[in-house]
Amino acid sequence: MIETPLFHISLLSEEEADHTTLNPKVAEEVLRRHNNEPSSAPSLSGEWRSQKDFFQSQTPACMLLRDKIVETSTAAIRELAPPGETRGQRVNFEGWINVNPPGSFNAPHNHYSDSISKLSGIYYVAAPENCGALELLAPQSYWPRNPGGRYTLEPKAGKYIIFPSYIYHWVQPNASAEMRISVAWNMRF
Ligand SMILES: [Fe+2]
Repeated sequence: MIETPLFHISLLSEEEADHTTLNPKVAEEVLRRHNNEPSSAPSLSGEWRSQKDFFQSQTPACMLLRDKIVETSTAAIRELAPPGETRGQRVNFEGWINVNPPGSFNAPHNHYSDSISKLSGIYYVAAPENCGALELLAPQSYWPRNPGGRYTLEPKAGKYIIFPSYIYHWVQPNASAEMRISVAWNMRF
């Protein structure tokens, strides 16, 4: 057997400096949509998901967050993607909002098949304590002779996480008494 320690995955984790001002305004706009629009992906666990239209938002706080996501993600592409990966092409963003009431969760999935997305991201708008950790599965876990493993990240309001879209991940049940709100997106380039 050949050991391959070079197969190592980097994630980007950053905190939005302005989140204490920005997040309550985003949450207000998001909850207005949540109360007026059906979920685009009905879920047995109670998760509500918007259409994939976050980057076309027309409300001020969501537009500001959209600009910040683009800025943070562009920096992440420079850091995470192989040199020359974008080949000068425009980055295509596709994003949506998740509202997770107490008890809801998100089953294992990846975002690679979403039109061959390269990198995906999450921003936490509201993340009360015990609202459901994000678990990322090591890609080699699907290869039977490897033990694999998982990396757990506790959500935190104002945190951006960016990871390769092919990584399988899921969200543990929201064990708090409040809603978790996050924005998720895919990047193609
Ligand atoms: Fe996901």
